[in-house]
Amino acid sequence: MDVMWCHIVSLLVIGILAVDSNNVQKSTTVSLKSSDDSLDWWQTAVFYQIYPRSFMDSDNDGVGDLKGIESKLDHLKDAGVTATWLSPIFKSPQVDQGYDISDYRMVDPIFGSNDDLTSLIKKAHDLGIKVILDFVPNHTSDKHEWFVKSNNMTPGYEDYYIWHPKSNNTSSNPPPVPNNWISNFKGSAWEWSEKRQQYYYHNFAIQQPDLNYSNPKVVKEMKDTLTYWLDQGVDGFRIDAVPYLFEDPQFRDQPLADGYTEYDINNADSLNQMYIKDLPKTFDMIYQFREHVDEYVKKNNKNETKVLMTEAYSPIEKQMLYYGSKDGSRKGAHFTFNFNLISDITNPNFTIDELYDAINKWLVYIPSGYTSNWVIGNHDNHRAATRYGKDNVDGFNMLIAILPGVMVTYNGEEIGMEDGEVTCEEGFDPQATKNCSSFNQTSRDFERTPYHWDDSVNAGFNTGHKTWLPVSEKSKEVNLKAQNIEGIYSHYNIYKELMNLRNNFKNSSTIDSLAVIKVNENVLQIVRSRDDAEYILLFNIGDKDETIDFLQAKMYHKVVVSSLKSSYEIG
Ligand code: NOJ
Ligand code: MG
Repeated sequence: MDVMWCHIVSLLVIGILAVDSNNVQKSTTVSLKSSDDSLDWWQTAVFYQIYPRSFMDSDNDGVGDLKGIESKLDHLKDAGVTATWLSPIFKSPQVDQGYDISDYRMVDPIFGSNDDLTSLIKKAHDLGIKVILDFVPNHTSDKHEWFVKSNNMTPGYEDYYIWHPKSNNTSSNPPPVPNNWISNFKGSAWEWSEKRQQYYYHNFAIQQPDLNYSNPKVVKEMKDTLTYWLDQGVDGFRIDAVPYLFEDPQFRDQPLADGYTEYDINNADSLNQMYIKDLPKTFDMIYQFREHVDEYVKKNNKNETKVLMTEAYSPIEKQMLYYGSKDGSRKGAHFTFNFNLISDITNPNFTIDELYDAINKWLVYIPSGYTSNWVIGNHDNHRAATRYGKDNVDGFNMLIAILPGVMVTYNGEEIGMEDGEVTCEEGFDPQATKNCSSFNQTSRDFERTPYHWDDSVNAGFNTGHKTWLPVSEKSKEVNLKAQNIEGIYSHYNIYKELMNLRNNFKNSSTIDSLAVIKVNENVLQIVRSRDDAEYILLFNIGDKDETIDFLQAKMYHKVVVSSLKSSYEIG
């Protein structure tokens, strides 16, 4: 083969590969599947997260809604994604923007009606797009009927939540908080109920009391909730905040976390969260949810897998247990979100080592037989374009498109949306608005501003006078309409091309292997190979052009022929 020299910014090429061996610093090779593995629909899927409050507002009340989403499903089709995950749309006082649910089976009127959801699911299915709902099992709203009853000591509901018995050794009213546990949203995790004369536990906002998973009635209620939505034809669930399902029944104080010398009531990370997070029973609960959903599919002769994806910001060893038990006897989530590209790459000056390590960490730890996934953003983290820098938008979309397994896109990433501009007075995030002096550091409102459809008033999100969060000024420049013009070099056109490549590649029934190669200080190379084609990404994270010699590369991605179901081989 001729030597190929290539000046690259970030480039995805298909063809025969060669890399100058002298340049290569480090590489990893992983075999992905053998010809007898047929992959299920979700294993190569692109999940597109819609944040309903900010996607499309059909009735001009300032908040996005289901009819709005339905009217924009063509965009998802055009983009080429497989499925959409909707952040919570259920009845809620909206203290935590829908993650405080007061009725699991009812759509909140601000989003529309249950009929609107039925209609949306049908239209999505007609277009070949699957619909995933957000399932929030850890806590309800304090306005949920169960909490109201529990607070009132209504028989049968006393133990639906985590209540701490009142201590007899104190005369103060209320008594001191039961222990040192800190809420994820700052402050003590305990709230006093005048009515019940007891403290209840809330890992998130005060208005989000934690359910008691040691109570079989609660477990049954939540499994019934899953069944209810499966009956409505949904294709799976994203499961919220799973590490927090169980708490230490002895309510022991937590020790300081490594690296902390003092207790900070406004920082849950100052404690080692050993008694409230990733408790052994928590994994069992996820396995139970999986069994429940699989049984549903079997019993109802559904011929398609209903997928479970879990949200856990946990140490990697714990993360893997959400996939399934160590001995392989129990299955958990189909995949648990891989947040490493978010957690380990924190600013636009990231290094090639950080990128290489963030990718490898997942590949090294994931047990054989499980499907990887790649996430670069969501409604809880600054937007990818802001964290990685605008120039890296295409590189990261290419990266997660070429890496094996599931790709997740947060709405707006396909057009390179950056964070919006929001002041504390305009913000809603309950973890940030309590204290305006730290709003800029703590608020999640920036990544939640309305989607940029075009450059009209309110960026096409609605035609009314208000939007719940301000529309970003950047929408004039960065919007779908401006990018969706045939033949231009835009984030969106690149994204669509990536989806085409993925769709072609997944039809392969031959050997598939992956090589991750650190070519030099600025260039990462990813190679997906099968016997008839190779997909090569050269991702230049630097700010100048690089010249790469493609020669001799074959040796760096030697195809390791072993099944995904046996073991990974790192070469
Ligand atoms: C994780 C969700 O993604 C986040 O938005 C929410 O505030 C917490 N869980 C509590 O439900
Ligand atoms: Mg809990």
